[in-house]
Amino acid sequence: MRKPIIAGNWKMNKTVSEAIELCRNLERAVHDSDVEVVVCPPFTALSALCALGMKKVKLGAQNMSNMEKGAFTGEVSVVMLQDVCCNYVIIGHSERRQIFNETDQLINQKAHLALKYGLKPIICVGETLVQRRANETEKVVINQIKAAFHEIPQDRAVNVVVAYEPIWAIGTGETASAEEANSVIGTIRKTLAQIYDSKTANQMRIQYGGSVKPENIKELMAQPEIDGALVGGASLNAEDFSAIVHYNE
Ligand code: PGA
Repeated sequence: MRKPIIAGNWKMNKTVSEAIELCRNLERAVHDSDVEVVVCPPFTALSALCALGMKKVKLGAQNMSNMEKGAFTGEVSVVMLQDVCCNYVIIGHSERRQIFNETDQLINQKAHLALKYGLKPIICVGETLVQRRANETEKVVINQIKAAFHEIPQDRAVNVVVAYEPIWAIGTGETASAEEANSVIGTIRKTLAQIYDSKTANQMRIQYGGSVKPENIKELMAQPEIDGALVGGASLNAEDFSAIVHYNE
């Protein structure tokens, strides 16, 4: 049985005091859930949130450097993230790929480094609208998965979470239908089974992301391949995010 994981990607939102308030409310609201709950605030809030000592809500970062340390102005290292209680790190979000030109190779390097230090990557994949219209969704996603997992050994791969986020569904209010999302996630799992084996692939958690809201989470989570969600906009307030976490009530 795969434990569902619901993660909030706050993107470039929330000051330190806003982040503290949101996490205090969330910790109270989701403490009774069986779901693994993660929030990924901006770097600047992580230290203060670490100091809250939350028991239920885990911390993740939205990005990290592919270098261990040194003269890389503006970058944040894996050890720095561990130092502020991060268990997870989002890698290769489509906004990083599209706006900051992150390549498959860079994403693979970051995944290796995170796993080396015991940080669990949430690796994002997904097609653009143009690719979807050209019926290239499966091809694009398979290639992204193969590149992201290049030379990652099996015993480490099980610690990776994959997030399937069709780019056209992010922040647009449009979602892939639950069946569509399930089908692409099934393809991702098959690809992982080819790289490793089906036992490994069946242990790995694959989320859906893209306009997830309290209104659509239940249907998404009812799909057999979908193990959770990566939530942007609706993770910015405790009420919506806790309603998403409590999808099965
Ligand atoms: P959204 O963002 O839920 O606001 O569509 C999802 C994401 O980018 O991870």
